Amino acid sequence: MKKILIVGAGGQIGSELTTHLRGIYGQHNVIAADIHGDREDNDFVQLDALDAEAVAKTVRENKIDTIFNLVALLSATGEANPQKAWRVNMGALMNALEIAREYNCAVFTPSSIGAFGPDAPKDKTPQDTPMHPTTIYGVCKVTGELLSNYYHQRFGVDTRSVRLPGVISSQALPGGGTTDYAVEIFYAALKGEKFVCPVPHDRFMDMIYMPDVLNAMVQLMEADPSRLKHRNGYNVASMSFSPEIICAEIRKHIPSLEMVYEIDPVKDAISEGWPNLMDDSVARAEWDWAPKWGLSEMTTDMLEVLGKRLGK
Ligand code: SER
Repeated sequence: MKKILIVGAGGQIGSELTTHLRGIYGQHNVIAADIHGDREDNDFVQLDALDAEAVAKTVRENKIDTIFNLVALLSATGEANPQKAWRVNMGALMNALEIAREYNCAVFTPSSIGAFGPDAPKDKTPQDTPMHPTTIYGVCKVTGELLSNYYHQRFGVDTRSVRLPGVISSQALPGGGTTDYAVEIFYAALKGEKFVCPVPHDRFMDMIYMPDVLNAMVQLMEADPSRLKHRNGYNVASMSFSPEIICAEIRKHIPSLEMVYEIDPVKDAISEGWPNLMDDSVARAEWDWAPKWGLSEMTTDMLEVLGKRLGK
């Protein structure tokens, strides 16, 4: 990776990935692009990921060799408008793959725990197992994995991805995801507000802290290609908890945190079909994935960093 384009750079992952990659590869070697503009950043380009010519022009003019395609409607938003979710999620990926084929770029696209469906084993969900998701978000993720593998086999495009758990971070908020509660609960705790949880108290899901996400993305993209047998996409796991467990962990720091449940039927149904904890042994074997953040370290760090940001 020498010259990088991040499409969807304004989102939860994109905003932190931009800073992280600029720290490694240099400010001007990481072009941030997003549909929402008005940034005070000379290396930012406002563009619509569905506008193939605009993306191609940015790649051409900046001599890009690696594209991070982070454009996606998340799972709950997707259920509200499945047709749009397909158009945006698949349209952005297809453009990235085609442009990568033409301009000889590598492509990273995140897949997700959402790529699994109710027939996959919930505990230690294997790397290779039935994948029959019941959400449009998951359908797009599985299709994206297959399409990315196809572009690799058929055209030699260097495509790589990880199946991300719910991402917890202290900067930009996620939006429209089923795992968002695990970020929102920190805001409620620090602001002294009652937290209304939309998923059941005992619903386990895979989660991951942003520093591990950023490391995973760089490590996979820098990995020796001859070791990569799976490519799209690798299970990565670091922690798994339910609402009552994360609440208890935060209460060790903020005992007054109050949580009540108002179950959102859409998020309930979505999360019911997802893994409790993925088996990430293939990522460990093929590119030395090794997460650093568990539940207690993540909670302490989130409260400190977010607390400072919120002035608490
Ligand atoms: N965080 C995503 C969501 O909840 C899953 O990848 O939709």
